Amino acid sequence: MKKIAVIGSLSTDFVVTTNIIPEQGETVVGKEFATFYGGKGANQAIATSRSGIETYMVGAVGDDNFGENLLSNLIHNHIDTSMVKVVKDMSSGVAIIQVHQGDNRIVIVEGSNGKNEIADIDNHSDLLKEMDLFVIQNEIPVEVIEYVIEFAHQAGIPTLYNPAPIKAINPELLNKVSYITPNEHEFEALFTNQSLEEALAMHPNKLVVTLGSKGAVYHDGKQVVLVEQEPVDNVVDTTGAGDTFNGYFASGILKGLSIEEAIKLGNRAAGLAIQKKGAQNGIPKIDEV
Ligand code: RIB
Ligand code: NA
Repeated sequence: MKKIAVIGSLSTDFVVTTNIIPEQGETVVGKEFATFYGGKGANQAIATSRSGIETYMVGAVGDDNFGENLLSNLIHNHIDTSMVKVVKDMSSGVAIIQVHQGDNRIVIVEGSNGKNEIADIDNHSDLLKEMDLFVIQNEIPVEVIEYVIEFAHQAGIPTLYNPAPIKAINPELLNKVSYITPNEHEFEALFTNQSLEEALAMHPNKLVVTLGSKGAVYHDGKQVVLVEQEPVDNVVDTTGAGDTFNGYFASGILKGLSIEEAIKLGNRAAGLAIQKKGAQNGIPKIDEV
């Protein structure tokens, strides 16, 4: 069975649903409040696990109640947690999320996610070298992201790099990953001097730019291909849509699908995820996709 390691964040999402977005200095009355499991790393790990791939999480939680719950949530989702450390005297990562008409605004506080270290990768290098694919995002320290890309490259293991949220990394490392999956904003931050068409053509079958409800684009070596998202009528919460896409895209690739088929799979899974509240709540199992 193929194995994926997701190296990234685990967070608790504090989600407020509101009809009105407050202006500075203004207080408004929201509709609902709930906490959900989140963090881009954990969300993507849940997606790969629910897609039927053996999933290993590499990350850090704090020694608070949130941390305990974040760990048991992974275990409950059949994810190996032997590479998740508990950081003493540290709070776990949190995200404060406002959901307004299905769309979100997010403030994160990294807490223990900021305590991921290069040594954590070295400490688990034997197990990590058994992986078939690495998946990473930008919610952990940049030196760890860069180290993981080098490590995977030297071990001959492909990496899917989801550059979310926006963070500067050494651009040369983009040559060492197999897939780069920014959304439109992250794309602009990463490829500052290039148009979308140029950048896609320079990274055929590798750069996949997600376009929200429109789907995703890539270049197949001959031309730019738009893989359209089917319309979703009942959008409840788009939080984690990108993570669901990434997890299912990664899993499609590992299962031997073409890039186009893997994108379709990611689109379908994300389309289902946004019909439920919470980042992980709506992430489907493979037989629902
Ligand atoms: O991508 C969605 C995630 O981003 C949320 O779960 C939240 O934790 C933020 O990190
Ligand atoms: Na959702």
